[in-house]
Amino acid sequence: MTSKTMEELVSLCKRRGFIFQSNDIYGGVKGLYDYGPMGVELKNNLKQSWWKSMVYERDDIEGLDATILTAPDVLKHSGHEDTFSDPLVDCKSCKSRWRADQLVNQACPHCKSKDLTDPRPFNLMFKTSIGPVDDGSNFVYLRPETAQQIFINFKNVLDSTNRTLPFGIAQIGKAFRNEITPRNFIFRVREFEQMELEFFVEPGSDDKWHQYWIESRYKWWIEQGINKDKLELIEVKNDDLSHYSKSTVDIMYNFPHGKEELEGIANRTDFDLGSHTKNQQEFDISSKVIKNNKSTTKLVIQNIANKKWFVPYVIEPSAGVERGVLALLNEAYKEEKIDEKNSRIVLALKAHLAPIKAAVIPLKRNNEQLVNEAKSIKSNLQKIGLGRVILENSGNIGKSYRRHDEIGTPICITVDFETLENKTVTVRDRDTMKQKRLGPNELKNYYEKYFN
Ligand code: GAP
Repeated sequence: MTSKTMEELVSLCKRRGFIFQSNDIYGGVKGLYDYGPMGVELKNNLKQSWWKSMVYERDDIEGLDATILTAPDVLKHSGHEDTFSDPLVDCKSCKSRWRADQLVNQACPHCKSKDLTDPRPFNLMFKTSIGPVDDGSNFVYLRPETAQQIFINFKNVLDSTNRTLPFGIAQIGKAFRNEITPRNFIFRVREFEQMELEFFVEPGSDDKWHQYWIESRYKWWIEQGINKDKLELIEVKNDDLSHYSKSTVDIMYNFPHGKEELEGIANRTDFDLGSHTKNQQEFDISSKVIKNNKSTTKLVIQNIANKKWFVPYVIEPSAGVERGVLALLNEAYKEEKIDEKNSRIVLALKAHLAPIKAAVIPLKRNNEQLVNEAKSIKSNLQKIGLGRVILENSGNIGKSYRRHDEIGTPICITVDFETLENKTVTVRDRDTMKQKRLGPNELKNYYEKYFN
C-alpha cells in the first residue's frame, strides 16, 4: 500500500464521477465544484449520518432548513458586515491578489515580487439584488454561515416545540464565501455546505457543554472512518478567535496538503442571540453585543425557578461537508498489491457512506435470462431501502470489480448460469475480495446485516 497525493484523489474523483470542476465546458470557475453520480451519494450519506446522530438519535435537538438569501440586517447585527473579511494585498508587478496572512516571505506566490500593496480588509460575503429593481438599494446576502438563520429562528422553534434548556437546533445547508484564494481542491471553495448545530445552554454551564461537544464530535469523525492518528484537537489562540467566540477548539485533520481545520467547536456565548434580540437593555447580556433597535422579537427564555427572562449561551459545532468528503476520500483511498503483477485501487469507505451499496452483475450482458434475474435481485435489494443498488450490465466481470473497488461498493453480486438453475449467486466482498455462493434468503440476510 502506498500513500496518496491530492492529484491521485482528484484524478479518481473525475474518473469515477465523484467531483468535477464546475462550469468546466466554459473554462471553469475557480473555487466551485460539481458533485457527480458517486459524489452526490457520498455527500448525502455523510449528511444523513450527521443528521441521524444529531436529530434522530437524541431527544434534545430539532432540525431546521432556512433560506440562503439573508436580509442585510441579520448580517449587520451578527457582526459579519463589519468583521467578516480577510486581509487582501495586490501584487504591483503581476496584478494578482492574495491573502496577506498566507504569503510566504511577504512575496507574491505567482511572480515572487515583493512589491505588494498594504493589506486591506476584503469582505467575503456575496451580494445579490432582490425584486425587480436592480439599483443596488434592494440587496440581500448569500449567507456566509448557516448559523445566523438558526439564531433568528430561535423563538419560532422554541415556541413550536416547547423546549427547555439545554436544547439544540441543527441545520445542513449551503454557505457562500468569496474566498480570495480558493485552493486545495474542495478544501477551500466559494460555495460549500455546512453541518451546524447551535446548542443553547444556561450561562455557567457553557464550559461543560463545550467540552462535551468537542469530545462528541471527535468521536463521530472516528466513527465515520477517520483514523484517530490523523486528527488533532487544537485550541484557537485568543488573537485568532472569531468576533463572537469566547473559546474555540478546532478538529484538525491531516489532509493531503497538510494539517488543517475539519470542524470548529465554538463557545459563542450570548453574543448572537444577544445581538439579534429586541430590547437588549432588559436583559443581563454578558458579551459585547451589537446595538439593535430593529429586531421585533425577544430571543430569550424564562428561568423556571426565579421567573427571570435571560439570553441563553450557545455552543456551536460547525463542520464543512466538503472537508469531510475530502478527509473521507483520503482515508479510504488505498492502492493494494494483489499479486506479483497486479495491483488495485480500492476505496475502503465505511459501509454506511459507500455511494453504491451493492452492484448486481449479470455474467453476460446480452443474455436476457441472466439480465432479467439480475434486475429482479437488484430490485429486491433496492426495496430494503438501505441505499443505492445498481445493475452493472457491462458484460465484463473483471472490469466491473475494478470499477466498484474504486468507487467503494462493498458488495458485488454476480448472476451466472447456476443462478438460473438454483437461484444462488456469487457474492464478492470489496475488502477481502473473497467470494461465496449464497441462496436468495441468505443473500437478503447477508445484505441487511452488512448495512445495519
Ligand atoms: N458558523 C461558524 C463558522 O462558519 P467557520 O470556521 O468559518 O465557522 C465552519 O466554518 C466550517 O465550515 C469549517 O470548519 C470548514 O469545515 C467549513 N468551511 C469554512 N469555510 C470553507 C470554505 N471556504 N470551503 C470549504 N469549507 C469551508
